[in-house]
Amino acid sequence: MGFLKSYILLVLVLHNYIAFAQDDAEIAIGFTEDERNALLALKNGFHNAFLDERWQSFDCINWYGVVCNGGRVVSLTLESLNIIGEIKLDALFNLTALSTLSSRNNSIFGQLMDFSKNIDLARLDLSRNKFDGLISPSLVNLVLLESLQLQENRLTGPIPWFDQSSLKEFNVSNNNLTGPIPNTRKLQSFNPSSYDHNSFLCGPPTSTSCGPTSRDNDNSSSSHKSLIGVTLIIVNVIGLVILLILLMVFYRKNKQLNEKIIQKNNIKFADDKENGRFVDDKEKRYSVDNEEKGYSVDEEEKRDEITSDSMDHQAHMRTQHQGKLVFVDGEPDFELGDLMTASAENLGKGNFGNTYRARLDDGRNVIVKRLKDLKPLSRDEFMNHLKVIAAQKHPNLVPLLAYFYSNNEKLLVHKFMMNENLFSRLHGARGTRDRIPFRWGPRLAVAQGVARAMEYLHMNPNSALVPHGNLKSSNVLIDENNMARVSDYGLTSIISNTIYVHQMVAFKCPEYLTSKKVSKKSDVWSYGSLLMELLTGRVSVLSVPKDDKAVDLCNWVHRAVREEWTAEIFDLELMVQRSAIHGMLKLLQLAVRCCDKVPEKRPDMSEVVREIENIKPPNADSESEEDFSIDRSLTDDSMSGTPSR
Ligand SMILES: *[C@@H]1O[C@H](CO)[C@@H](O)[C@H](O)[C@H]1NC(C)=O
Ligand SMILES: *[C@@H]1O[C@H](CO)[C@@H](O)[C@H](O)[C@H]1NC(C)=O
Ligand SMILES: *[C@@H]1O[C@H](CO)[C@@H](O)[C@H](O)[C@H]1NC(C)=O
Repeated sequence: MGFLKSYILLVLVLHNYIAFAQDDAEIAIGFTEDERNALLALKNGFHNAFLDERWQSFDCINWYGVVCNGGRVVSLTLESLNIIGEIKLDALFNLTALSTLSSRNNSIFGQLMDFSKNIDLARLDLSRNKFDGLISPSLVNLVLLESLQLQENRLTGPIPWFDQSSLKEFNVSNNNLTGPIPNTRKLQSFNPSSYDHNSFLCGPPTSTSCGPTSRDNDNSSSSHKSLIGVTLIIVNVIGLVILLILLMVFYRKNKQLNEKIIQKNNIKFADDKENGRFVDDKEKRYSVDNEEKGYSVDEEEKRDEITSDSMDHQAHMRTQHQGKLVFVDGEPDFELGDLMTASAENLGKGNFGNTYRARLDDGRNVIVKRLKDLKPLSRDEFMNHLKVIAAQKHPNLVPLLAYFYSNNEKLLVHKFMMNENLFSRLHGARGTRDRIPFRWGPRLAVAQGVARAMEYLHMNPNSALVPHGNLKSSNVLIDENNMARVSDYGLTSIISNTIYVHQMVAFKCPEYLTSKKVSKKSDVWSYGSLLMELLTGRVSVLSVPKDDKAVDLCNWVHRAVREEWTAEIFDLELMVQRSAIHGMLKLLQLAVRCCDKVPEKRPDMSEVVREIENIKPPNADSESEEDFSIDRSLTDDSMSGTPSR
């Protein structure tokens, strides 16, 4: 049978010291009709013989400069192609998964496009073209935007109020922009050369001052001047009052609109109106927008890496004074006040809200998770539910230390785990010198630990804990003893439906797509996918939905096994351990069964634990002895050919 063949193949392969060139992540071939049409419309505007020839087939893969993922266009790169043509304002409306767009160094003219539908856009480079008109205000709302290059065009008007924390590169030099540079933290932080050569742009961070433009050179009429001054002040005051009124009207309208949208979607943010949500307006707008379009906030999780908004965090926290921290194990260890004054580092935005690492005055670290998008729960409901979560004690679960409830703040405080999460252990620093190989022994231990934790949760009579719903590598932490610990358990039943349906891993299983049901078996499916990630070292779409390299591992492995290229499945870091191959194949078989399309055919977690404990870990000396002769650089994915000895 296939496995035996593969086993022989594997042994052969190792004897020959062949390193596999891991092919790139599977790239979907086709793309949706809408997106194809959108690109064809672009092509029609460009009149470019090169593109006319290369944008024809039905396979996205053959289109020059286009990258698709899962049938969606994620990247469009049309640099220096001598394109002379126009892009329509609404040209990008259907390319809603677009994350990179570059058409630098062409002669494209017309106004900047409307980017309001491209909420995933991270990199935009339209430099060295002939765009004119205003910088589209839609760009201000793109919360993932990292790089904006608009230099060397013919843009006019003011710079909009960019202030998204994601923005790292910004250049609008060599245009015809006017007015003062808005005083936002972001815009002020860029190098003045980002603003160069715009004759009417002024104010910091450039050295041009925005002061009175025409210097009065007759100094005789000082009374005349002061009269002008007074008039100016009066005009200013009137202007300010009008502006305030307008702002109030706008705010009311906006609020009403938001409420309408919320009602329409039947989402009850119970506490919002009474207390004001503590997300800032932009964040709020973003989440509402997303729910409307069915997008998942989760997907920005990875990109939105560590930002240092600990100040905001503290300011938010300070507004929440009522209530006390409830400690899971009796004695209060610290107080809410201590958390509020602790220095905090934002660890990123998760499914259920932001996570911070707070450093208490005594030097201890804790993880604070601010829950948002909960179902409307009364205090008692919340407290009861948290008691259930707190009662879960297992060496492979991240322990809960304390929790907190007030009308507008719900916090979970967890023990800080020394090491890192499984995702970064598996994928971090690949191909660099800093990479410490992650060998079979520790990987098997992780697989076993996670299986035990899941079995423990599944055995619990309290149905509030099942399914976990969000088992993925970034939710598995590795503690100071290299023990795997599962986090985020017990939350499915208190999170609002719209959020979990769109974002949680178990809701992407085959049966949810067809029958809208999840169960323990959906967790088993997620677990199977996690095993695949451990075995292949590839990024799973479940962990990072928007990563270009991410693969639907269940499908990918099924195909690999069917087509009998099993040997190429395993992570090269594992392949150096000859004696482990038997165990790896066993684990792979188990993973394949967990990923079965039919939920009933998947084993349950107890069965998984039993099988996985039968896989023998390698003994310690063979582990090191086997690292023989294989060059470190072999772990670099891009490496192919034979390793140096
Ligand atoms: C711009 O594109 C032209 C071809 O259209 C090429 O010759 C030139 O080198 C490019 N310049 C830069 C700076 O990329
Ligand atoms: C910039 O705009 C001004 C009018 O606003 C115009 O007179 C000038 O020619 C423009 N310069 C360029 C380089 O387009
Ligand atoms: C912005 O672009 C101009 C070229 O138009 C370049 O000279 C300048 O260094 C760039 N500035 C930054 C901060 O990238």
